[in-house]
Amino acid sequence: MTLAKMKFAIDDGSTNVKISWIDKGVIQSITSPNSFRKDWKSAALLNNSKIFNYQIGATKYTFDATSDKALPTTHVAYQYDDLNLLSVHHALLQTGMKPGPISILVTLPIIEYYNAEDCQKNETNIERKKQNLMRDISLNKGELFEIIDIEVLPESLPAVLTTLMDSGVNEFTKSLVIDCGGTTLDMGVIVGEFEDVSAVYGNPEIGVSMVTDAVRKALAAADSDASYLVANELIKRRKDRDFVDDVINDVSKVDWVLGKIEDKITELGAAVAYEAKTFTKNPNRVYLVGGGALLIEQAIRDVYPSLGDKVILVPSPQEALSREICCYHAADEITETDVAVA
Ligand SMILES: Nc1ncnc2c1ncn2[C@@H]1O[C@H](COP(=O)(O)OP(=O)(O)OP(=O)(O)O)[C@@H](O)[C@H]1O
Ligand SMILES: [Mg+2]
Repeated sequence: MTLAKMKFAIDDGSTNVKISWIDKGVIQSITSPNSFRKDWKSAALLNNSKIFNYQIGATKYTFDATSDKALPTTHVAYQYDDLNLLSVHHALLQTGMKPGPISILVTLPIIEYYNAEDCQKNETNIERKKQNLMRDISLNKGELFEIIDIEVLPESLPAVLTTLMDSGVNEFTKSLVIDCGGTTLDMGVIVGEFEDVSAVYGNPEIGVSMVTDAVRKALAAADSDASYLVANELIKRRKDRDFVDDVINDVSKVDWVLGKIEDKITELGAAVAYEAKTFTKNPNRVYLVGGGALLIEQAIRDVYPSLGDKVILVPSPQEALSREICCYHAADEITETDVAVA
């Protein structure tokens, strides 16, 4: 019999894994980008930086933040393949906690978790995800966490669990949750405090990567080829002139690149606002979560003008899902005896 000593809430998104856990009574969260390539890194070249070389079956992988050979994780199959297993284990190591037996809560995209026609749970997909994460994986010269218990939850919707509970909604209130992630736009309508999920929607064509891809192209045109990570950082820090000047080599193109970024952000906002309005014409409240929430906030406010402050940007929107799942499901279960698994 193995005892799971800790429980982690994991939102394993297609571009970043977010983990939240409770350490000495305080909630902690980390974000770990998915950037892996085949084969191992050589230790000899790098003195101080830690190397993460993994093996799954006969295949070797390594974590490589800046490689342009990084394997894509932005397709639905990612939820059930080697890269998902890798990214979850890799992210767990970034928590700084000592590896050991653990139980985890993970997420599936809303349209994988529910059947879109009837909003019922898709037990086949849920089981598939569990089986995938139970597979063997090893870290060269290192120890990994041992996952002994897995619970699967839907993406997006639980991100507003406590916010909804505290907001005094009645049983008829329709809350639209908009999750703008790295590669997908997910939406769901929650009735009351969670009485019912009345509709779900997912669009894998709309996400922050629309902006990132355009920024990378613009940077290349300004003699400043950059990785996905750098491009994303530039989007976040576009108002920080020192950072902008550091990243863009061709000074004559700085304003042009910044203009491109703003154009794409506007385009993303317009696309999300259009989809949201088509999906739910008149919700009573709108909650914005996911890494792209800040980028689309204004567009959503504009498309639902009568809602005013009932359009709510959830605090730290990128980590909201893992944090809320952690608070809600994990906190009260962490005790000395913990979860026993036969
Ligand atoms: N403050 C911010 N401003 C702009 N972009 C941000 C900010 N914070 C995060 N992002 C971007 O949001 C994206 C990641 O969001 P998130 O972690 O929600 O995606 P994901 O869950 O991996 O993707 P998906 O839900 O599509 O599978 C990244 O492109 C990141 O650069
Ligand atoms: Mg996500």
